[in-house]
Amino acid sequence: MKILIIGSGGREHAIIWKIFSQNNNTKIFSFPGNGGISELSEIVNIPLNQKKQIVEFVKKEKIGITIVGPEVPLSEGIVDIFIENGCPIFGPVQKAALIESSKTWAKEFMSSSGIPTGSFDIFDNFNGAKNFLETKAHLPLVIKFDGLAAGKGVQITHTIKEGISFLDDIFLKNIYKTENPKIIFEEFLTGKEISYLVFTDGQDFIPMEPAKDYKKIFDGDKGPNTGGMGCYSPVDFCTRDIKKSIEKQIIIPTLNNLQKRDILYTGVLYCGLILTSNGLKVLEYNARFGDPETEVILPGIKTPLIDIIDAVINKELKKIKIQWDQNYYVDVVLSSQGYPDHYQTGKQILGLDNIPSDIFVFHAGTKKQDNKYYTSGGRVLNIVSMGQNLIEAREKVYKAINQIEFEGKYYRKDIALS
Ligand code: GLY
Repeated sequence: MKILIIGSGGREHAIIWKIFSQNNNTKIFSFPGNGGISELSEIVNIPLNQKKQIVEFVKKEKIGITIVGPEVPLSEGIVDIFIENGCPIFGPVQKAALIESSKTWAKEFMSSSGIPTGSFDIFDNFNGAKNFLETKAHLPLVIKFDGLAAGKGVQITHTIKEGISFLDDIFLKNIYKTENPKIIFEEFLTGKEISYLVFTDGQDFIPMEPAKDYKKIFDGDKGPNTGGMGCYSPVDFCTRDIKKSIEKQIIIPTLNNLQKRDILYTGVLYCGLILTSNGLKVLEYNARFGDPETEVILPGIKTPLIDIIDAVINKELKKIKIQWDQNYYVDVVLSSQGYPDHYQTGKQILGLDNIPSDIFVFHAGTKKQDNKYYTSGGRVLNIVSMGQNLIEAREKVYKAINQIEFEGKYYRKDIALS
């Protein structure tokens, strides 16, 4: 079968690697791709926003399945366009993707569906938001931009001054370039976080192994948010009882209430959860595979991934049983110095050939030129190890990282420690 993967990160590299390692007679196309993806698939030169051109390519090449990695094409309705054209695609339709693309929509959905989440207040203007912050807010609190911002439109506000500066960025400077910016103030919750992803065909769902993601740039969860600096899976503190509660309190009501709104949600439903002293709460939903969660979840799946995806698309998920291996996986992201703000690119990456064969390297911001690899983004590489326990996997990944060099290489030293 021919498959098309849309995206250019470690997540898409991991998806392609998994499909290829389980079905090596598959022909895989991808775009925009990256240096690692270009080794396993044929990169197609189609701009991400040219949906008609994408559909024409899919029809011409008789692509059997298209898999969408990132959130932006989902929020722009790529799945709806494929469905209208009779082309099989994995991912939710535009109105289902609102669960991620509008934080305010998602919060109102949770609130009206009885799904546990922190308290919140929504504002669509600077003065109202500033007034709330100055007179009613309990600090610290979370301010989220109501739209897609690659994991970066979130601030944990400790002082009124820094909060006002973020509101100024969103409403007055309009740094996210939206017509009618909105923000959401959210209660600051404390506890252990879990990324809980399920495959769903809208009716049935199958959970993946939970993962723990590290979003901040510095050790000890300090500094600004990033797209993700590391991850591990499975998560031992997410016990069988907790998993049952997640499904009962969150996954089932989410899918049922989406259906009540006539929204058939298919693809991956990602719930970002926190275990607070008042129980489980949803921090956010994402409408896709997580990144870097995918890089630590997919290696452990023994069932052919493409069979699972095909069953989701054909609404036959109840026929599938997913088998997992018993290993632990740890991902440490190597980023460019300065990320998530300003950083340089074009630095040669050395040492990839020295990586042991039981370590996976999933490329993110890389490009390949004349058989050499160069940095081309903020997050550059995901180094993923496997072990019989977390300690072994952690030791292996940090040893492997020493083999790789590029100017400005930065990584967190505390992934999988807490
Ligand atoms: N790891 C967070 C995300 O995928 O959005």
